Amino acid sequence: MKARVFSGVQPSGNLHIGNYLGALKNWVKMQHNYESIFCIVDLHAITVYQPPDELRSKIKEIAALFLAAGIDPKHSSVMVQSAVPGHTELAWMLTCVTPVGWLERMTQYKAKAAAQETVGDGLLQYPVLMASDILLYQANIVPVGDDQAQHLELTRDIAQRFNSLYGETFVMPETKLPAVGARIMGLDEPEKKMSKSAPGSGHAVALLDPPDVVRKKIMRATTDSNPAVDFSTMGPGVRNLLAIFQAFTEWPDEKMRAHFTGMRYGDLKKQVAEVVIEHIEPLQKRYQEITCEPGYLEGVLREGAERVRPIAESTVELVKQRMGLYTRS
Ligand code: TYM
Repeated sequence: MKARVFSGVQPSGNLHIGNYLGALKNWVKMQHNYESIFCIVDLHAITVYQPPDELRSKIKEIAALFLAAGIDPKHSSVMVQSAVPGHTELAWMLTCVTPVGWLERMTQYKAKAAAQETVGDGLLQYPVLMASDILLYQANIVPVGDDQAQHLELTRDIAQRFNSLYGETFVMPETKLPAVGARIMGLDEPEKKMSKSAPGSGHAVALLDPPDVVRKKIMRATTDSNPAVDFSTMGPGVRNLLAIFQAFTEWPDEKMRAHFTGMRYGDLKKQVAEVVIEHIEPLQKRYQEITCEPGYLEGVLREGAERVRPIAESTVELVKQRMGLYTRS
């Protein structure tokens, strides 16, 4: 039996090259060697208020971007989290074995909570729902960017705690980070990770940005006071531009050094912009085709949910049995 891969993206904000290089690119590569489930996590998105109509259209946009990036829906299940009730059912059961202290320590919780006037309970429970997404399908491998590594550690802690209280139930999921591109930084603020929700038009390159916008954003990216690329003294802005180039092209380190050492920043930026455009233009073309086909996306999402529902139901049933809850059989 093939090992199972699970991963997800929140349908909030605009998907950017960080999401692509940190997660989607790896998914596309891995999908044929594993049984894969790729999820649009709408229940996670609502931990911060989303205007309902925007959320509805974002769910479809993200699904179309998964497919445009190269996810093959015949082979991989593409589904929406709220279409499978097991995610929230299991989340409650896991909440009951998770100490609050573990959740209060999460860096993403602390950062998001600091930005809100009132902190919803959903924000604190966010990582438990994420653990539930993964454990519900007994996933072996979870390909994500570096910012999700702490949530994955927590997922393993929750699984271990459950297993030791109630007996072996959950598979221990493994985190899979890309070798390059696990943490793409903001173009304007290279000390902060590129984020879907960060304000500022120069922060992130969205996967659906037209070529002239990509060029403008990259040409304006923050660098440092060196005149040209120097691998031993470069600052975070230049390091980030090189990481973007390397993650797209997959050039080995030696080739990167030989090509870029001594290159002026203007030329570096031009080359980075062209590589980004070269890779996202075909994706944008496929996105247009997918979104023009009436009913296609809806069919993919329906089929994806139907395919995974039996796995979810059997895990929920098993967990209920283990905990002594009421079960059908
Ligand atoms: P989300 O929607 O913020 O991001 C989706 C994926 O993109 C990666 N990523 C990045 N990678 C590199 N550089 C960046 N600047 C960057 N920004 C984001 C993320 O690591 C992620 O892989 N909590 C998750 C969604 C989720 C999930 C799950 C993921 C919910 N349940 C179960 C895996 C398994 C999130 O908010 O991702």
